[in-house]
Amino acid sequence: MASTNPLSAERLYEMIHTALSLWHKSSADGDPLAELVLYQQARARQDSVRNATNQLLGDLIAELSEHAEEDAKILRLRYAENLSAQNVAQRLSMSDGNVFKRQREAIERLAQIVLDHETSLRADSRQRFQSILPAATYSVLFGVVQAIAALTGILTQMEAPWLISLEGIGGIGKTSLAHALTTSLISEGVIGWRRYSGVAWVTARRQQINPGGALHDFHQPALPAEELVIELADQLLHPEERRDLPASVLEAKVHRQLKQSPHLVVIDNLETDADIHALRDLLHGLSNPSRFLITSRRSLYDQIGFFPFRLPELSREDSLSLLRHEARLRNLPALSAAPDAQLDAVYQTVGGNPLALRLVAGLTYVHSLDHVLADLTAARGQAIEHLYTHIYRSAWERLNEEERHLLLVMPLVNENGAEVDLIAEIAEQPAPELRPILERLVALNLVESRGDLHRRCYAIHSLTRSFLHEQVLRWSPRPRHEPPKKH
Ligand SMILES: Nc1ncnc2c1ncn2[C@@H]1O[C@H](COP(=O)(O)OP(=O)(O)OP(=O)(O)O)[C@@H](O)[C@H]1O
Ligand SMILES: [Mg+2]
Repeated sequence: MASTNPLSAERLYEMIHTALSLWHKSSADGDPLAELVLYQQARARQDSVRNATNQLLGDLIAELSEHAEEDAKILRLRYAENLSAQNVAQRLSMSDGNVFKRQREAIERLAQIVLDHETSLRADSRQRFQSILPAATYSVLFGVVQAIAALTGILTQMEAPWLISLEGIGGIGKTSLAHALTTSLISEGVIGWRRYSGVAWVTARRQQINPGGALHDFHQPALPAEELVIELADQLLHPEERRDLPASVLEAKVHRQLKQSPHLVVIDNLETDADIHALRDLLHGLSNPSRFLITSRRSLYDQIGFFPFRLPELSREDSLSLLRHEARLRNLPALSAAPDAQLDAVYQTVGGNPLALRLVAGLTYVHSLDHVLADLTAARGQAIEHLYTHIYRSAWERLNEEERHLLLVMPLVNENGAEVDLIAEIAEQPAPELRPILERLVALNLVESRGDLHRRCYAIHSLTRSFLHEQVLRWSPRPRHEPPKKH
């Protein structure tokens, strides 16, 4: 893997000097510029390490000649034409010492040119790859430093495991960890130039409820192999390269791309047996040197070649920090004012499950923490799935009619979220009217607000989706969006 040292003009000087001195050597003698995006781009066009290196050096010297013609000439004579310093001195009517001095200055200038190009290429690469990931659902993640360090170690090595699954119950933070890890790898250049030349992100779980209210059939894979190939082709190949091609040809192209240049591919929610069965062989075939990072509620420990990484619950300390953070972020005064002992009672009840903690924090938007805790006592000690139902029901009972109506519309929104205008269209309600209702649901943590200042999307968590689906079933044969009577 390429060096993790930051680039500096001094280090680049050494790298370029070594590369120049290898001009007439074979490819096996080394590729000192390997860690540069500039070099990797040249390498994609050239058939050997030496040709790529010399092509890049030639281009850089040509750029140097625009400002310092004689310096560029000295480098060409010394390295491309392999003349001794004495010969160059004679040709240019200089002293030998002057040739050495000018040569050093010329390489220093080259190093500065490379530093400028490389800095901007790396910034572009970070931005491009980050834009492939879905918007984050969190502002801060607590208690993930160790997991990120351990996974970074595994993901940067050049050997197996090639298939890694982040596992754990719903809401424990699998998608968030995959997102934070990938973001960190992009910012460190592990995805970009150090280890992977690109990234793809595929979400396997489609909407569980279609507009007719039908539940997704779990015997059918949510992500059939053909669909994964099409998704990957969309993300990894140029539009020209994939136009109108049948799936078998696309698969061959995706295969070649992933084999030739290592990518990190995230598949979020690969959880049913049907999914694993449908994709297992394909994933094995496409991996090495590319790697797949999968999130799954089902453990894949029994699948050959999958490295299972189980997410732990948050510690008490991290759970309390998460609650306090939510209190600040969502302006939840009851929670902000609560002493540690009360927050501890929340942790004792729901455990260190981030989604459950966030939902309970949201409940304090409409009720005092005492009240919320008294209510939760009934659910204390139950399995987390029951706890969710309990929490959702409590939250639901406190919603007014318009909030319920909007929440019931949310399962119709794409999993990665939609902007207010689109939600307004689906809800058949004017956007300005809808905005404050949406904000209240965000404060309750029933709706997630994702994205940045420029583009804000709203979505619901998959567990909220399941809960709403249950509700929808319970209320049928009432019209789909008609909420029950107000309490
Ligand atoms: N370590 C954490 N610190 C703070 N918030 C977190 C943390 N992990 C997850 N969250 C938040 O908790 C919620 C649930 O996390 P996430 O969606 O990643 O869970 P998941 O395990 O992928 O669930 P599912 O199995 O349903 O897909 C999200 O809103 C996320 O932002
Ligand atoms: Mg998830």
